[in-house]
Amino acid sequence: MTAHRKSHLFYQTKHRRPVLDQARGVYLWDVEGKRYLDGSSGAMVCNIGHSNPNVLEAMRRQMEKSTFGYRLHFETESAELLAAKTAELTPEGMDRAFFASGGSEIVESAIKLARQYAVAMGEAMRWKVISRFPSYHGATLGALAVTGYTPMTAPFEAMMRPMPKVPAPRAYLDGLDPEDPETGLHYAAMLERKIVEEGPETVLAFLVEPVGGASTGALVPPSGYMAAIREICDRYGVLLIHDEVMSGGGRTGKFFSGEHWNVVPDILVVSKGYAAGYAPLGAMAAKDHIVDAVLDSGGFIHGYTYAGNPLACAAGLAVIKEIESEGLMDKAVSIGTLLKSRLTALMDRFDFIGDVRGKGLLLAFELVSDRKTMAPLPRELMAYDRLVEMAYARGLIIYSRRTRGGYEGDHFMVCPPMIATETHVDEIMENLTAALEAFSALVTPHLKRTA
Ligand SMILES: Cc1ncc(COP(=O)(O)O)c(C=O)c1O
Repeated sequence: MTAHRKSHLFYQTKHRRPVLDQARGVYLWDVEGKRYLDGSSGAMVCNIGHSNPNVLEAMRRQMEKSTFGYRLHFETESAELLAAKTAELTPEGMDRAFFASGGSEIVESAIKLARQYAVAMGEAMRWKVISRFPSYHGATLGALAVTGYTPMTAPFEAMMRPMPKVPAPRAYLDGLDPEDPETGLHYAAMLERKIVEEGPETVLAFLVEPVGGASTGALVPPSGYMAAIREICDRYGVLLIHDEVMSGGGRTGKFFSGEHWNVVPDILVVSKGYAAGYAPLGAMAAKDHIVDAVLDSGGFIHGYTYAGNPLACAAGLAVIKEIESEGLMDKAVSIGTLLKSRLTALMDRFDFIGDVRGKGLLLAFELVSDRKTMAPLPRELMAYDRLVEMAYARGLIIYSRRTRGGYEGDHFMVCPPMIATETHVDEIMENLTAALEAFSALVTPHLKRTA
């Protein structure tokens, strides 16, 4: 990372990155002229690539008309059109949408809608939202309470109402076959046990990322899991909320990743890829009877100044149009298949790669000290940070997190925009391989290699 330089801005640490000059397609340039391949689409956001002229034009047209219209004073055409488009993209019976400015805000909105629905139905005792560990649902205190990533939640625990967690279905770590439907049932049974333990009459919802994001590193649920959790939620009157903030928007090859298993949630949220970084936007859709019950019981007691912002909605509409007209979901499947096979091939060369996983272009690989036991690398090695820096120095951006709930384990998201070509995959692989080679020297003394 660039050494500390004087700035009036602050984020997580004192270390600062180079200043961005411009971004086009899959590339970004800093003010020194160095080029970077956006191998993680920012934080899995810029799904259609940077500076798309059609999106910029749609935003310019909207800006010329109006940039802000407050929802209590005006309806706006772009919000109305995006809501109609959302209804078309979401499963049947989810005909109305609510908008916010990002993932955390929209997760909070889903939790509040679920809660208000329970109250409207005379079930005010339902308030617990079960989620998984690890998981990430956002940084605001409500979304953080349902997040399973200890370093981010621990400092704030005293300020949040603890919410029950069940283990994420990480078959690859537990030595189970993800293709065996028994594996899915094994993890789904943990949800049922938790509902019973908590008292079913107190459980409001189960919140789940159908294909995992950064906390699990693109975890794909084992066979049978998604159908089983739907069935369990129905049995206990628990709402199923799909957090598609990262997995929605086409990156997995379907617009919403829950579609891979034909599972219809009660409430669904999406954000990052929805406006693909052109504007801050999050969207929520819910089954009609939920929205109706809440609106009929006095209204949805929730809102944001920027909910349904016309510029953000115009950007979202243009991004979705681009995804559809350019066939980007099919491209995510074909380029994702190629990229995943090339990442998997790296396992022959680097025995500290323990797993490669994901769907479409939501992909990750995980480092271990022993592939047989899947023991993580020593946490002090800071592999998640160091490999990212080695790639960054070579002009390749990838995104990493600690795998085991935030404290140890190292996985890396490789998620270029859906417009990436085979040539871009070659470039990613060339720079990633070079970074892994450099990293190899550091890591080799720490490998356990069980016979
Ligand atoms: C699955 C999921 N939910 C919620 C969020 C929070 O979104 P935001 O950072 O836009 O608030 C994220 C962000 O990474 C996410 O991946």
